[in-house]
Amino acid sequence: MRLSMTSDLWWKNAVVYCLDIETFADGNGDGIGDFRGAIQRIDHLDRMGVTCIWLMPFFPTPDKDDGYDITDFYNVDPRLGTLGDFVEFMRVARDRGIRVIADLVVNHTSDQHPWFKEARSSRDSRYRDWYIWSDKPEPDDPKGVVFPDKEDSLWEYDEKTEQYYYHRFYRFQPDLNTANPEVQDEISRILGFWMELGLSGFRVDAVPFLIEQVTDSGDDLPDPHEFFACLRAFLSRRDGSAILLGEVNLPYPDLVKYFGNDLGDELTMCFDFISMQRTYLSLAREDARPLAAALRERPNPPRDSQWATFMRNHDELTLDKLSDSEREEVFAAFGPDKDMQVFGRGLRRRLPTMLGGDLERIKMVYSLLFSLPGTPVLFYGEEIGMGENLEIEGRLAVRTPMQWTPHRNGGFSDADPSKVSIPMPKGDFGPEKVNVSAQERDPDSLLAWITRLIRHYRDCPEFAWGKYTVLDTGVDAVFAHRADCDGETVVAVHNLGDAETEVELTLEGFDSSKVLTDLLVDGRIEIDDSGRVGFPMGRYGCRWFRASAPETAPADSADPS
Ligand code: NOJ
Repeated sequence: MRLSMTSDLWWKNAVVYCLDIETFADGNGDGIGDFRGAIQRIDHLDRMGVTCIWLMPFFPTPDKDDGYDITDFYNVDPRLGTLGDFVEFMRVARDRGIRVIADLVVNHTSDQHPWFKEARSSRDSRYRDWYIWSDKPEPDDPKGVVFPDKEDSLWEYDEKTEQYYYHRFYRFQPDLNTANPEVQDEISRILGFWMELGLSGFRVDAVPFLIEQVTDSGDDLPDPHEFFACLRAFLSRRDGSAILLGEVNLPYPDLVKYFGNDLGDELTMCFDFISMQRTYLSLAREDARPLAAALRERPNPPRDSQWATFMRNHDELTLDKLSDSEREEVFAAFGPDKDMQVFGRGLRRRLPTMLGGDLERIKMVYSLLFSLPGTPVLFYGEEIGMGENLEIEGRLAVRTPMQWTPHRNGGFSDADPSKVSIPMPKGDFGPEKVNVSAQERDPDSLLAWITRLIRHYRDCPEFAWGKYTVLDTGVDAVFAHRADCDGETVVAVHNLGDAETEVELTLEGFDSSKVLTDLLVDGRIEIDDSGRVGFPMGRYGCRWFRASAPETAPADSADPS
């Protein structure tokens, strides 16, 4: 594979790392993370092999939804630094060859945003039509409330102007009227502003809601997808390699529409929420079939598009696309206490605690993630197996400060601990036990493993670029797939079960002129003339292979398992 010819599609096999400046590293000792602190830690990401940082919102905010309630789209929240610090962060990331994207949260603003304050000052305000107003809540209200613990309606009454405004999320997050051309222009300006400062794209928040037609005005409204096509066109005019990575949690047939036409002229990448949820079902059952079914069902993205795969993000681990009984199975396995669940649809735990700290199993899950067809996205702290702190309310339980050292405040901040307002986990998942500095020195650590997986993932662009096929393994617990690209084939096999087993695969188009070379350990496996290969899989075992001619494979064929 000639990657040099495709480097403008850098995102096809990127390694994306999501971090929140507020919780990553505190550079000025005030107990809050900031750009200066994050700059000092970019080398950690570089050493791991991260190629793209996704910054969660860092804009001025009353911080009632962890920064997803913005009051100024053109600045940096003073708690986190200045525009100057941001530019310095960009310079250091670029120096390490790391691209940066950021959250684009334009479905709504904070109710403290000057636009909204102005809009609600009078029905004649110049900003009135930047938001969505109605004389009464629409008849199907409150269907679709996203945060049912706090909200029971999508409409909030504004006393002064005697109309209701629409808010898909919290009532302090009024939705922008993205059908308004002035709002569309402003969104382009926001994109343009941050691109001039070096961003390579955006993680687009709340995608389906951004273009929803809220009121039935009876008018012939334009196709809402045009919004994204225009946004992508604007982005590409400014920088052809910039991306839009969309948060679209919808079933595949609806989701795939957000890529746009056959070439992919809307969102560059979409998170694959479906295979993520089915992975957890598979893990809970120790049965690979739900995941295999999801990947067999998953449509191929258009040519200039890609799936983004992940195991955890900053929100609840949503299980909303599983059936009620499937969700109950996952709850029973990984979050049986009510306190571990949220909104009746998700879990507020991180993977390592859900898997009881079983390092072998955790390593297998990340091996699976990096071999899945798509571009993997990590949430900060996953690389060292951080846990959550259930004492923190709701979704914030997984947004605790990064654990750098076993020392004061986990090395996150020099401040007096009383000044660090977000409490870290304690016990087995606290910074004394789980931290970067210890794992950097331990070749068997999760950090060392993830660093290795990233290297192999980058060495095997077939996984991200290739045509994939889910293979029959004959063992329910074992998931296997192959990826083919430019005459090269890689195969990955994962045992989701805790029992050792024998696996037999048939590799179409192969015979004994090729062997499978183990990539994660030394060794190779013969293929017979019918393309069959058989090998053992250890408890929660994982194996990556490359098919090659015997003379290019290592001589030692000892079975490593
Ligand atoms: C989705 C984000 O992931 C979530 O954290 C946020 O609360 C909502 N959008 C509202 O912006």
